[in-house]
Amino acid sequence: MDSILVRGNGELRGQIPIAGAKNACLTLMPATLLSDEPLTLTNAPRLSDIRTMTQLLQSLGAEVASLQGGQVLALSSHAISNHTADYDIVRKMRASILVLGPMLARDGHAVVSLPGGCAIGARPVDLHLKALEAMGAELDLRDGYIHAKAPSGGLRGARIVFPIVSVGATENALMAATLAKGTTVLENAAREPEIVDLARCLRRMGAQIEGEGTSILTIEGVDRLGGATHPVVTDRIELGTYMLAPAICGGEVELLGGRIELVGAFCEKLDAAGISVSETERGLKVSRRNGRVTAVDVTTEPFPGFPTDLQAQMMALLCTAEGTSVLEEKIFENRFMHAPELIRMGARIDVHGGTATVTGVDRLRGAPVMATDLRASVSLILAGLAAEGETVVSRVYHLDRGYERVEEKLRACGAQIERISG
Ligand code: EPZ
Repeated sequence: MDSILVRGNGELRGQIPIAGAKNACLTLMPATLLSDEPLTLTNAPRLSDIRTMTQLLQSLGAEVASLQGGQVLALSSHAISNHTADYDIVRKMRASILVLGPMLARDGHAVVSLPGGCAIGARPVDLHLKALEAMGAELDLRDGYIHAKAPSGGLRGARIVFPIVSVGATENALMAATLAKGTTVLENAAREPEIVDLARCLRRMGAQIEGEGTSILTIEGVDRLGGATHPVVTDRIELGTYMLAPAICGGEVELLGGRIELVGAFCEKLDAAGISVSETERGLKVSRRNGRVTAVDVTTEPFPGFPTDLQAQMMALLCTAEGTSVLEEKIFENRFMHAPELIRMGARIDVHGGTATVTGVDRLRGAPVMATDLRASVSLILAGLAAEGETVVSRVYHLDRGYERVEEKLRACGAQIERISG
């Protein structure tokens, strides 16, 4: 297993290109199952999760070609031969559940493994299943698999009110509704930019959708969808992550492709902490306004609130802020596993249930630490960039799921960082 070695090396200066969004691409790829015409995705990120989704779609009989070094994905599902998404693949990546809605909508049946547990929380899929049942699907859970069947006339439009905001359940229901008979209304739908991107792609394929970006989505089912070419939206979580690099180390970094509207609530918190964010022709420029960062309180919420996927990275910044910050994680029940690792680096963090209280220290000290999940791993790298001495982050396979070429991107701005093959 590879590790990453980071040495605190002072200010960062330079430019970092931001890739296409992992969490958009993971829902755009299964959309190919809705049509027998080609779907081409451009600006695709080069990540292990994308390779896993590729394997899954290929196991169903879809064709997925990775072109231009992985930045273009050419997908085609004109010959789906297998409707079972196997546990061996699904257990590696929970987003695999997103093949359920499209397969059910187009072919009337699907067998998908239940995803199983995850480090950051139980992450049930009950809301996905309830939405599909509301559209007439018959679901039978047995042997760890979801056995799903649509009514003989196909899925039917329905009014679905989500009791809590769920990105994945909104995506599964939205894709299924595009081919359902009649009108579907999704209330309390997720508003994330990845949902907006999916709706725009589906519309290019011929879907009739209104309301993306709001909490009410209205979909008029159509008989069939065509092909499309669609650019994957910029990754707002990668963007926010790298915005924190100059915030933690000092200096000034320009994030190419960054847009304020993707990280509104996050920028408000950075501003309150004393970080300056300005728009440039090519993206966003980030620097500290003065010597030390100021403590701020953070509560994670569905978009447009503060993203849970940036909570771990923000905690790394607040470990060296002036004052005490309170972070409330409201989305997942176990998403503070980076805290004990940051404490190994000298951070002062008290965790009680879903609340972490961080008392800033002057400087963290490098130490051997362990990545526990995707966003925790990059939080430790950010902390290592500002710490005194050496930090070795182990189990970086977590990192490779969601960040392409981390070492290269940070080294280009002056960071001392290298991968150690293990
Ligand atoms: C998506 O996960 C993202 N993953 C996550 O990013 C992100 O943290 C999350 O949305 C929240 O923004 C992808 O898009 C591939 P949810 P998802 O359904 O769809 C509960 C990363 O680091 N829930 O919005 O699984 C659930 O347990 C990953 O890139 C149910 O109870 O998240 C959670 O507490 C991590 N029943 C809350 O809702 C359900 O049926 C929000 O989950 C579904 C969800």
